[in-house]
Amino acid sequence: MSPFTLSRTLPADATAAALRADVADGLTRTPKQLPPKWFYDARGSELFERITRLPEYYPTRAEREILVDRATEIAAATGARTLVELGSGSSEKTRHLLRALPELRTYVPVDVSESALSLAGRALLAAHPELVVHALVADFLTGLTLPADTPGPRLVAFLGGTIGNLPPAERAGFLASVGALLAPGDALLLGTDLVKDEATLVAAYDDAQGVTADFNKNVLAVIDRELGADFDPADFDHVALWDAEREWIEMRLRARGDLAVKIPALDLAVPFAAGEEMRTEISAKFRREGVRAELTAAGLEPRRWWTDREGRFALSLAVRA
Ligand code: SAH
Ligand code: TRP
Repeated sequence: MSPFTLSRTLPADATAAALRADVADGLTRTPKQLPPKWFYDARGSELFERITRLPEYYPTRAEREILVDRATEIAAATGARTLVELGSGSSEKTRHLLRALPELRTYVPVDVSESALSLAGRALLAAHPELVVHALVADFLTGLTLPADTPGPRLVAFLGGTIGNLPPAERAGFLASVGALLAPGDALLLGTDLVKDEATLVAAYDDAQGVTADFNKNVLAVIDRELGADFDPADFDHVALWDAEREWIEMRLRARGDLAVKIPALDLAVPFAAGEEMRTEISAKFRREGVRAELTAAGLEPRRWWTDREGRFALSLAVRA
């Protein structure tokens, strides 16, 4: 077997069909909304990598600090022979784990972004020629199945606080499906950004250079390209606000004037009133008790909880009992 394989669990046209369905549904609701996974085409993945290096975007640095400090403990607690990573992106932080897991044979990065997977795969193989890397272009929300050769014990990593991008109801179903993927003795390593002061949170999602604004607007470029729409990103402002009650950051795009956007592939014309906002993404922030309760509800047993030194971000390790 070649040390790097990339496969799709969904045919390419299933992705196109899902985009059409999501756009048709989201843009005919009040208020309008778009589902977040469509941010990540090649340009979106590249913009996200730039976000991870922004001075305001602390989550990546905080999580990396925990991984560096705790990699040996994580390795000892799991003894993983297979590492499955959901929403792996560039796999940049993951190398701290890969390096620390002495029994590891197989790495399965899973992402909707094929460009991110193939870039990451090449870099990883250069650093770990002994590793079998089986990249999966897949939606981790719909029927995730693992490739055949994934020996246990398995560690499933879900980093970056991406769990916070799922609305609470979807989160429960998602965590239950991850629980179901695990065999007894397998483990989940979950990264969660923590509740903190509003100014720090808002700055992380509304940076001075405007990279997050470009990232947010990239979803419009995806719809233009894939569905022939005529969104002009310049017609929208990026909005990030903290919802203190629900404890999440909400990203929106606000129409700068009255607009009529045409989406030929859906035979749809979408009117926007000046100032109208559509929700593009939430990023929920967590507390220790909440994470514990959600893991337990999914049939997982929380075992460890680590934070960075400033207490901004947490990694939890839970096992399937
Ligand atoms: N884990 C990386 C990247 C986080 S960004 C880090 O911590 O820096 C979120 C990643 O999840 C992106 O690479 C995006 O392409 C991927 N993603 C988002 N929704 C997804 C879905 N439904 N299925 C699979 N991958 C998804
Ligand atoms: N998982 C990342 C987070 O919630 C995704 C993200 C960062 C994001 N910045 C964003 C999503 C801006 C949309 C817009 O932190």
